[in-house]
Amino acid sequence: GKVAVVMGGESSEREVSLMSGKGVLDALKSQGVDAHAFDPAELPLEALHEEGFDRAFLILHGGDGEDGTIQGALEYLGIPYTGCGVMASAIGMDKWRTKLMWQAVGLPVPAYLLLDAQSDFDSVIPKLGSPVFVKPSNGGSSVGVTKCRNADDIRAAYEEAAKYDPLVMVEQAVSGGEFSCAVLNGRALATVKIEPATEFYDYDAKYFRDDTVYTCPGLAGEAEAQARVLAEAAYRVLGATGWARIDFLTDADGKVYLLEPNTAPGMTSHSLFPMCAREAGIGYEQLVLQILDTTLE
Ligand code: DAL
Ligand code: MG
Repeated sequence: GKVAVVMGGESSEREVSLMSGKGVLDALKSQGVDAHAFDPAELPLEALHEEGFDRAFLILHGGDGEDGTIQGALEYLGIPYTGCGVMASAIGMDKWRTKLMWQAVGLPVPAYLLLDAQSDFDSVIPKLGSPVFVKPSNGGSSVGVTKCRNADDIRAAYEEAAKYDPLVMVEQAVSGGEFSCAVLNGRALATVKIEPATEFYDYDAKYFRDDTVYTCPGLAGEAEAQARVLAEAAYRVLGATGWARIDFLTDADGKVYLLEPNTAPGMTSHSLFPMCAREAGIGYEQLVLQILDTTLE
């Protein structure tokens, strides 16, 4: 049948989605799949029926495409789609509510506080230590995220984050290392360690700079095995299906702290999911076909 690679959209991660979508589209075509780009910013989703598509490869990042809205519309239209359903997408887009679920089952997360305009910004570093990350609860690709070392910075960072979501979190910057783990159909493929040349793995480092060092697998032996178990548990508790990437930090002793899920992970040439898949022996084309098959569940 005809496959719509649903890409672009209207979120702050539109440009990333177009890059991911191009990779996916080229890979599907190279494997003989009758795939075509479909941008919901240009055409309403109802057009999927009119254009004869019978399933959708969702590679929208952030906003409506990753928060369950489009998933719900596709359910309503009766068009099978890749990846997480409505609930896991909606909760997964909200870092705070995801943390509440993970904490409830005893999964480790960094200490954090919620901020609003009335917050006592001076009390944050005494409570959480320095540095901290200020981030919008809903969002991705580090858009609106700032690393802060004092109360003035936290106030400015709060204003910035609040542009993207009224719900703003400030989180302890656990300082061992930055990692992610790809999970495909419930199975962790591998972790990847990320060592950005910038202060943290921000938007530029994620997509444009070539000086980030990636190591895959990111950990060794028992530590790698334990991190994979935690990533699989995080995926399961969220109710994820198909695929998702779980971002996490480690402290100086190597203890894992889960950060957030990504229910429509990046698939650009710089992206982490394809790196982890390669480590597990799955090349990019094969990975894209396996993700496409998740529409069949
Ligand atoms: N939000 C971006 C696309 C990612 O997590 O890969
Ligand atoms: Mg993310």
